[in-house]
Amino acid sequence: MSNKSTKELDLVTVNELFKNRQKAVPNVKSFASGDSHGPAKTIAVVNQKGGVGKTTTTISLGASLAEMGRRVLLVDFDPQGSLSIGLGVITDELESSIYNLLMDRNASVDEVLLKTTVPGMDLIPSDIMLSGAEIGLVNEVAREQSLKRILAPLALEYDVILIDCQPSLGLLTVNALTAADLILVPLQCEYFALRGFKLLKEITSKIQERLNPDLAIIGIVATMFEKTAHSKEVLARIYEAFPSLLFDTVISKTVRFNETTAAGEPITSYASSSPGATAYRRLAREVIARGGSR
Ligand SMILES: Nc1ncnc2c1ncn2[C@@H]1O[C@H](COP(=O)(O)OP(=O)(O)O)[C@@H](O)[C@H]1O
Ligand SMILES: [Mg+2]
Repeated sequence: MSNKSTKELDLVTVNELFKNRQKAVPNVKSFASGDSHGPAKTIAVVNQKGGVGKTTTTISLGASLAEMGRRVLLVDFDPQGSLSIGLGVITDELESSIYNLLMDRNASVDEVLLKTTVPGMDLIPSDIMLSGAEIGLVNEVAREQSLKRILAPLALEYDVILIDCQPSLGLLTVNALTAADLILVPLQCEYFALRGFKLLKEITSKIQERLNPDLAIIGIVATMFEKTAHSKEVLARIYEAFPSLLFDTVISKTVRFNETTAAGEPITSYASSSPGATAYRRLAREVIARGGSR
């Protein structure tokens, strides 16, 4: 484990920062081994901006939910494959990925699905091939519904499916938003975050009208928070604009997350008692309480 050269922030919450609402994380039940599973809620982790913590949130939230006995499926839906790499998969060596499932209706999920180091958490990996899917899908019938078709039968076996989206609002992300019940939006605590979120909300409304009327936003999670006036001001603005959407748990900035990528495992196992792991476990409880997982 690394030395503690950089001082880490303790757990930060919206409630504590602004001291104006109830501390709001109810206790939620962990599942025991005999409990039944499914049907899953499907959550797209989405923000058209890169580097805001989508992939980190997908891995860490997924691992936290799995710790609570949930059966979790992670779907890497970014051709960069960061989610797969972050879980220790060597993407160059993959024989098949989500791309094959998208392009070939006869491809079998069993051949693509991988177990992760986290008990109860599986992964459908992606690799650079997926970047060809936007073009490959153009002539498909119901091209926006391809991912939905793949995930529908899987929902019965899991309690939650998390889709890690690429940083764009192109056809792949439209597929994710069509397959999802819920959207979870990581917002980095920096100046243009809110503007980006408003655009994402517009797109969401269009998807609701045309493709997925039941789609809802489960919440915004503030990421990479620093104890600076700027970070705090941005967070205050997000809270002002969307008080009920903003999760109480705030994810602070810490180098620990970079280390986990290199280690190929989630923060919950790599640095189990770190503030980052604690924060994502708390977020997981909020997600369950908001109906994001069984
Ligand atoms: N809370 C955090 N504090 C510090 N670094 C973080 C945090 N969350 C993510 N990172 C790092 O920032 C980079 C971008 O995060 P990532 O989750 O890959 O974003 P995205 O998927 O939105 O592009 C990665 O190197 C990741 O390790
Ligand atoms: Mg990513």
